[in-house]
Amino acid sequence: MRVAGGPANRRRAEDFPVQSRADHTPPTSPETLTPLEGSKAFKLCSGARTVTARDRVETRIRSAAPAPDVECDTCKLRQLLLLLLLLRMGRVAALVSVFVALALCEAGLSVAFGGDLQYAPNYGVELSALERQVPVRDGLAWGYYAKSCPKAEDIVAQRVAVFLKKDVGVSPGLLRLIFHDCFVQGCDGSILLRLESGTELDDPANRSIRQVALDLVDDAKAALEKVCPGVVTCADIVVMAGRESVKQVGGPAFNVPLGRRDSFTFSNDTSDLPPPTATFQAQLDLYATKNLDLADLVALSGAHTLGDAGCGAFQNRLRPTVDPKLNKVYAKYLTNLCPTNGATARTGLDFFSPTKFDNVYYKNFATGGALLTSDQELDQNKQALGLVRLYASNQSAFFNQFLWSYIKMSQIVSSPPNTGEVRRKCSVNNGGKSSASSSIEPEIISMVTDGRVDI
Ligand code: HEM
Repeated sequence: MRVAGGPANRRRAEDFPVQSRADHTPPTSPETLTPLEGSKAFKLCSGARTVTARDRVETRIRSAAPAPDVECDTCKLRQLLLLLLLLRMGRVAALVSVFVALALCEAGLSVAFGGDLQYAPNYGVELSALERQVPVRDGLAWGYYAKSCPKAEDIVAQRVAVFLKKDVGVSPGLLRLIFHDCFVQGCDGSILLRLESGTELDDPANRSIRQVALDLVDDAKAALEKVCPGVVTCADIVVMAGRESVKQVGGPAFNVPLGRRDSFTFSNDTSDLPPPTATFQAQLDLYATKNLDLADLVALSGAHTLGDAGCGAFQNRLRPTVDPKLNKVYAKYLTNLCPTNGATARTGLDFFSPTKFDNVYYKNFATGGALLTSDQELDQNKQALGLVRLYASNQSAFFNQFLWSYIKMSQIVSSPPNTGEVRRKCSVNNGGKSSASSSIEPEIISMVTDGRVDI
């Protein structure tokens, strides 16, 4: 087990100078955002696709959950614009048209200006009120494999549980994997490809991706191929496994829309993976190119509640001078751990609970315990700092925003979207040659396929 072993686990919060309670109280200033309010995506219908009447009926019939309320701000705004437009055509005609348009809007058919997403197709998944509002891109659906591979999500969950028993590091490994897959060329499983022509994994930013996470994906894929061959994509496995890796170590349980395709190839350009020294603005700008906003940035950074980092990722905060924002005791611990530049030791990104998905990452800001410069930089912006403080004092607020932002991140597309294949093996496209050698133990695969593990 690699996660923050040794002395890190023996240190206690009391070892750091204690901050007053006031530092943990939720901010009350009007500028401070509440979870999701800061997210542009929270505005219903934005970034959405057209939902047909058929989708609506299908959803109502198939969904175990009650049909979502259609509350579409954009739609209503458009009716108002329509009214203003039509007023120029005479009062009676305008009023009749507006009544018709409002009725259509209530029916979920926003025809006036081309239509918006109300919600995505749903094949039997019970969604929370929050999940029902998440914009879902064209081609993805809740319960996508309900008919073609009904046990898909259970199998992935089961594989994560089995791996977790052996190595808690699989959890941070998987969570980082989805980030590194989605930020390069979209969420298309490109990071898994190990082709003769190369792999994204050779990039320095990807070198510390845990092998156990890659093994988990290969293992889950092998198990799924036995049950429903050629159906579940590796890109979807990454998304499901990342979600499980959060849930199974204490984080929120949530649904993810599925239906991604696997890419045929990988990208040589991994410059979209931000360095640990990235400023707040650089991170925000990069996220914006992925349709992710400030609230997404703050919540997704909370993934650093899990796992560890090597000295190279934070040595800039120790030398030539110690970053004054680092807690003095913590800085001393880090300097001892990494006595020279280039040292290879590792320590938890969240010093106190690196194997648990919780809000301690945010609490660490108040005690000078944010490890990476990119983490620390969240205090450079008033809104971001407001969210950091909110999440430090309210774990549910963090969990809600995290699941929202995770689902958003999991929908980053490469162009053109919805092209690709269902790979038979995750490390190689169906027409290509692999350079990979798997380190999965056949025993683990056979446990699930011969029924020794219930799914
Ligand atoms: C600006 C954004 C980010 C930066 C600069 C960043 C940077 C880093 C760095 C430098 C490490 C340590 C790597 C090493 O030393 O081996 C790391 C680890 C990690 N990152 Fe991030 N990260 C960012 C965003 C994210 C996001 C969005 C997620 C997931 C949602 C994520 C999940 C993780 C996890 C779970 C680990 C621990 C991995 C392990 O222990 O195997 N990071 N990150």
